[in-house]
Amino acid sequence: MAPAGTPAPVAADAIRFPPGFVWGAATASFQIEGRQPGDGRGECIWDRFCATPGAIADGSNGLVACDHVNRWPTDIALLGELGLGAYRFSISWPRVQPLGRGPTNPAGLDFYDRLVDGLLAAGITPYPTLYHWDLPQVLEDEGGWRNRATAEAFGDYADLVTTRLADRIPTWMTLNEPFCSAWLGHATGEHAPGLRDPNAATIAAHHLLLAHGFAMERIRANAPHAQAGIVLNFTPVRPRSDAPDDVAAAAVVDGRENRWYVEPIAGLGYPQDIAEALGWDGAEIRPGDLALIAAPLDVLGINYYTTQIVGADGVVPPTGPVTAMNWPITPTGLEDLLRGVHARHRFPRYLIMENGAAMPDHADADGHVDDADRIAYLHDHLARVAAVVDDGIPVAGYFAWSLLDNFEWAFGYSKRFGLVRVDFDTQRRIPKASAHWFGSVATTNQLPAQPSSPAQLPSAEREDRS
Ligand code: FCB
Repeated sequence: MAPAGTPAPVAADAIRFPPGFVWGAATASFQIEGRQPGDGRGECIWDRFCATPGAIADGSNGLVACDHVNRWPTDIALLGELGLGAYRFSISWPRVQPLGRGPTNPAGLDFYDRLVDGLLAAGITPYPTLYHWDLPQVLEDEGGWRNRATAEAFGDYADLVTTRLADRIPTWMTLNEPFCSAWLGHATGEHAPGLRDPNAATIAAHHLLLAHGFAMERIRANAPHAQAGIVLNFTPVRPRSDAPDDVAAAAVVDGRENRWYVEPIAGLGYPQDIAEALGWDGAEIRPGDLALIAAPLDVLGINYYTTQIVGADGVVPPTGPVTAMNWPITPTGLEDLLRGVHARHRFPRYLIMENGAAMPDHADADGHVDDADRIAYLHDHLARVAAVVDDGIPVAGYFAWSLLDNFEWAFGYSKRFGLVRVDFDTQRRIPKASAHWFGSVATTNQLPAQPSSPAQLPSAEREDRS
């Protein structure tokens, strides 16, 4: 890496990050906040979905989650103790506008106001995302993202929030992972609102991207000095073999999950081959929509977890190391992704807005988790980030998913992604070994050569590695 000019001593073979590299942790409103009687937060599609028998693996919901609405000062303090200078969170639309349009819930806006002030007072830069999947249920009842009016309402909501907070927010993100909202919500039915209609998913995707475009206009008007962008998730796809059927199937999955979002954002419109494969004639696109969607970004947020191998008969089950989600652990995928996106689209700047792993955490009697596996995951992915930064690709920061164990959507509380363990019976927060490790990477701005010193690993792990 380029010499950093910071006073931190460089450990042998450590990889240094450039000065000013942003280190943070991420969360999302529905996954951590909880909903209190009387707090004024409206019902969202995930409240409704959680009430659907069988929708959530452990039958849980987001009513308490990490009780962050009450415990946010503790959570800010945790970020500070770990030495993280940035925090990505999302703003709950139904907490701000319970009915999705019209009257605001003053307590909702006050909550984010206090959170932002608390972060700033602790020296932590806030990175809010305006939408991380918690659509007001009232809007869903009117057609949700299948309905263009939802995108227009989102513009007004973005206006409200940015008007209130613009003086304190340097970087705004509009949507989190529109692929998941559109496809998992409307085609596979794994996520709220739980539809199984691929055509609805394609229409929803257009309205989500349009909502991003409307929000960009409002951010530019209300926060002309802020950076603005969208957070996309990428799951790189490889065909199982060179057989034409495998190659074609992989291309459709890649097109549907990855290209469908980044290409219109980059000004290329929707990939025509994929529109044909999806059977979409683009009837919902109105004049001007594509230009709005392609409004220049200052920064592209990238979420990366894994890669997939696809054959003619679908996704090939993983054979190598996997996380507790059964997602293959493929750090090289992150490097290839960053190089590929930059080579094709040349966005001015990138922030890794999510990367991390659910692991089969074992807490000792005191609640401590010695998660050498998560440390290794983070280490190996960060090494790939460092390699691309070293080559001059403008990746400006990295946010670990997640600060806290939390409500992992259709998996409920059964999958733990946190740097910090949450005991859901007591709401106690206990930083895992990975939290201390990540904090030291952040504060020294350098990655040790090895994921962890042997002394930090439990003995069984030490033997495995020798
Ligand atoms: C991403 C979501 C995030 C979290 C991680 C594991 O797709 O943005 O909320 O659930 O996956």
